[in-house]
Amino acid sequence: MNTSSNDAAFVEFERVQKSYDGEALVVKDLNLSLPKGEFLTMLGPSGSGKTTCLMMLAGFETATHGDIRLDGKSINNIPPHKRGIGMVFQNYALFPHMTVAENLSFPLEVRKIGKSEREEKVKRALDMVQMGDFAGRRPAQLSGGQQQRIALSRALVFEPELVLMDEPLGALDKQLRETLQFEITNLAHDLGITTVYVTHDQTEALTMSDRVAVFDDGRIQQLAPPDQLYEAPENSFVAQFIGENNTLEGVVKEINNDRALVQLDGGGLIDAKPVNVSKVGERTRVSIRPERVEYNKDRLSADAHTLNAEVLEFIYMGDIFRTRLRVAGRDDFVIKTRNAPDQVRLKPGQQIEIGWLAEDCRALDA
Ligand SMILES: Nc1ncnc2c1ncn2[C@@H]1O[C@H](COP(=O)(O)OP(=O)(O)OP(=O)(O)O)[C@@H](O)[C@H]1O
Ligand SMILES: [Mg+2]
Repeated sequence: MNTSSNDAAFVEFERVQKSYDGEALVVKDLNLSLPKGEFLTMLGPSGSGKTTCLMMLAGFETATHGDIRLDGKSINNIPPHKRGIGMVFQNYALFPHMTVAENLSFPLEVRKIGKSEREEKVKRALDMVQMGDFAGRRPAQLSGGQQQRIALSRALVFEPELVLMDEPLGALDKQLRETLQFEITNLAHDLGITTVYVTHDQTEALTMSDRVAVFDDGRIQQLAPPDQLYEAPENSFVAQFIGENNTLEGVVKEINNDRALVQLDGGGLIDAKPVNVSKVGERTRVSIRPERVEYNKDRLSADAHTLNAEVLEFIYMGDIFRTRLRVAGRDDFVIKTRNAPDQVRLKPGQQIEIGWLAEDCRALDA
């Protein structure tokens, strides 16, 4: 198998910057490279520059600096309709005066495709999103989810190699969103389409994507597959933004390659993996996931450091127990424990000792 052609960059951002007012940069030195067929999601808070990046790729905005390439060719000077990109936006309205079939046929007419081939492609695109029975309706006669399905099939009907989607499911209810998340990823993978998807819903990003680019303040903070983002955040922003996370602040007391000893501001010493710290005396925020905290001492190594904690709240959730603790002067420390026959159920007011494996606790930037 020739993997090199699969790995070659299909979409590339190289040192891309964008300013709307000639002063403030809303995209700062963006580098990003997607191989063909990848499903990449841009995830980040409001105003972090996601839509701007998508608009530059689509050709509705131009980069102030840097280069954007599609299949190795610079597209800076190619107008949007010549880029061959399919697009679905949250408010990318269907043409209201056209039927569903006419809406889908339109991008094919623009591309000068003959009538019989058009009809065939429209039918296939509608069947793909299970909307074959709705060809004769107008958009106003469809529900929000059905309209979004049509918008999706309109973006795919001309078989683009690249599809851009900006919060396409934002306006839909939870159940429909989950159904369509599944349909979109299946379609994209089955058709071998390269997709850049924008959302600020982290569950959506984690469940749909091959890789996620976490944006903040015009920069990619981390670009990684979903499991790596959750398990190995590279900085405090990503640790806080992805999933539930406990944060404690302190100072590095001792450090070697794979273990740092951190003196917590609220009292206590803990073990952590040095990620963004390199020397004694440095301030750090340590990050530990709720399911990696142990209160059963048998599960900790003999030399592990432990912290005293007071149980504030114990919630039985069926599959897990969720316990809120007072730890090192904070009362928002959460642990999650799998429900098992031998697992101790805690009570509010109870004093316990908690600990973890050094490799599960990450010493990040302060
Ligand atoms: N046309 C424009 N003119 C001037 N400033 C703009 C324009 N579009 C966006 N901005 C600014 O650029 C920054 C990034 O906006 P962008 O729309 O890319 O963010 P976003 O990550 O998509 O946010 P959201 O999640 O809210 O959609 C924001 O500060 C925004 O106010
Ligand atoms: Mg946006």
